[in-house]
Amino acid sequence: MAEPAAFGIDLGTTLSVVAHVTDAGQPVVLPNTEGSPTTPSVVLFDHDHVVVGEIARQALATEPESVVQLVKRHMGSAWTFDYGGVSFRPEHLSALILRKLAAGAQLLAGPVTEAVITVPAYFNDPMRAATRRAGELVGLDVLALLSEPTAAALAFGYEHRPSGCTGVVVDLGGGTFDVTVMEYERDDLTVRATGGDSYLGGANLDKVLFDFFAAQFEAAHGLDINDPDVLSLEECTQVSRDWLLRAARAKHDLTARDRTTVALQAAGLTLRVEVRRDEFQALSRILLDEMTEKMLDVIGAAGVTPRDVSVVLAVGGSTRIPWVRARLHDIFGVAPDTSVRPDEAVALGAALFAAQRQLERGGALVLEAETRDYLERLSVTDVAAHSIGISAFENTTDDLHRPVVASLLPRNTPLPHAAERTFYTLRPGETQIIVPVLEGESSDPELCRRIGVVVVDGLPPGRSDRQPVRVTMKLDGDGILQVSAIDVSTGQTASTTIEHTYLAVGGDEAADAAVRTLQVD
Ligand SMILES: Nc1ncnc2c1ncn2[C@@H]1O[C@H](COP(=O)(O)OP(=O)(O)OP(=O)(O)O)[C@@H](O)[C@H]1O
Ligand SMILES: [Mg+2]
Repeated sequence: MAEPAAFGIDLGTTLSVVAHVTDAGQPVVLPNTEGSPTTPSVVLFDHDHVVVGEIARQALATEPESVVQLVKRHMGSAWTFDYGGVSFRPEHLSALILRKLAAGAQLLAGPVTEAVITVPAYFNDPMRAATRRAGELVGLDVLALLSEPTAAALAFGYEHRPSGCTGVVVDLGGGTFDVTVMEYERDDLTVRATGGDSYLGGANLDKVLFDFFAAQFEAAHGLDINDPDVLSLEECTQVSRDWLLRAARAKHDLTARDRTTVALQAAGLTLRVEVRRDEFQALSRILLDEMTEKMLDVIGAAGVTPRDVSVVLAVGGSTRIPWVRARLHDIFGVAPDTSVRPDEAVALGAALFAAQRQLERGGALVLEAETRDYLERLSVTDVAAHSIGISAFENTTDDLHRPVVASLLPRNTPLPHAAERTFYTLRPGETQIIVPVLEGESSDPELCRRIGVVVVDGLPPGRSDRQPVRVTMKLDGDGILQVSAIDVSTGQTASTTIEHTYLAVGGDEAADAAVRTLQVD
């Protein structure tokens, strides 16, 4: 029996979008229950009822203790949002957003049971694992996690069928900045390098304007809104949220016009502030320079120069800003292509990838013949965004031991990939071997992030030093890591999927249940 097309979900920091491929072979965005193609990734708790989207966003200023936003920035961390005695992890809050998206999609395209969810290319293993779990919490079969820039490249490729050229995707969203360099060659889309910053996006620009407002307010009224003697913590939170909303609105205005006026209120005082576009542009220069530096770094890692790039895809809402586009034009010498809508491209690409996954596993999809052929021929190769290795000791010439990172999977390795390396124990009599797994670009373990550990236990006592230990690492197509270590002489093995070490924290039952039972509108 023919199966319905699976869904592509862009679970964004500020906006989320769901799409699918129609029977006629067209990837389309499915509007939410309010009829909007994008849903603000904001959650409002109201007793046993949850509201996700624009209404929740509007409540940010008035009910700050019940509203949560920018959840994606906490993905993969131990951060929680507490409401009604329940601690919600980032994946629980994301799951509530997914339920809202599914409700809208279902009205137009049937039950949402299978989906591809996108993640920033720069997301590391715990962040990806948390995203996958968000889907699983609401009963979704997550067909794959796909990097957001790769998804956008796919949507563009489907639309324009480029071949024999190098492209770059620049995704400047609400909370993250991703750059990916790829090659289009007939039916192959091959990512060469990727990088970015998971803390750089439109929200940083909002903060730039917010700081400008605070400085103006202080100049006019002699009042520093960040001073705890001036505003209580509660008042400060409320003013901050209100001003940040106004900052975002002013930022949007300044994309369309040369100046805008903002009305501010705090501690019973008011102020009207005029912001000029050139002023905002000057204030945001540092962020743009940071972005440029990261971009050039990724382009260098791909082994090309900006002038080799013939297709520049600007995605993410923040690339609507004229001086962001101008900067891209300056760097690459070509105007950025925005033919696929910046805030929809990622979801559309994810929908195409979802259909491809279904075809790959032999699904009887109802799909127009030309699209089916295209998707069946298409091959997509992504890369690892971070180097992964283990913490080890290196013998120095003076016979001391220096801690170093022994890399197994260098950054930009094509996925999936497996690597193996043998290490030797340091001291005699070791009955336990601890293998710390690290992620990062430094050779100093202190400067890398520890993402898990593999422990080989119960080894016989009295052994000499220099016992061989073989470490194997596998990164799957989703960028999720599995590590195993084997003590060669005894054959004793230990392994871990890093996903599991992160999830072994436990104590989430109340939030897990709430995510499934709360009414979501
Ligand atoms: N016209 C505009 N001018 C300036 N900024 C805009 C405009 N439209 C949208 N933005 C900004 O784009 C951002 C949202 O973009 P997008 O929807 O691509 O992000 P996201 O997918 O939620 O985030 P991320 O990809 O980082 O997870 C917000 O910061 C928003 O203020
Ligand atoms: Mg995005």
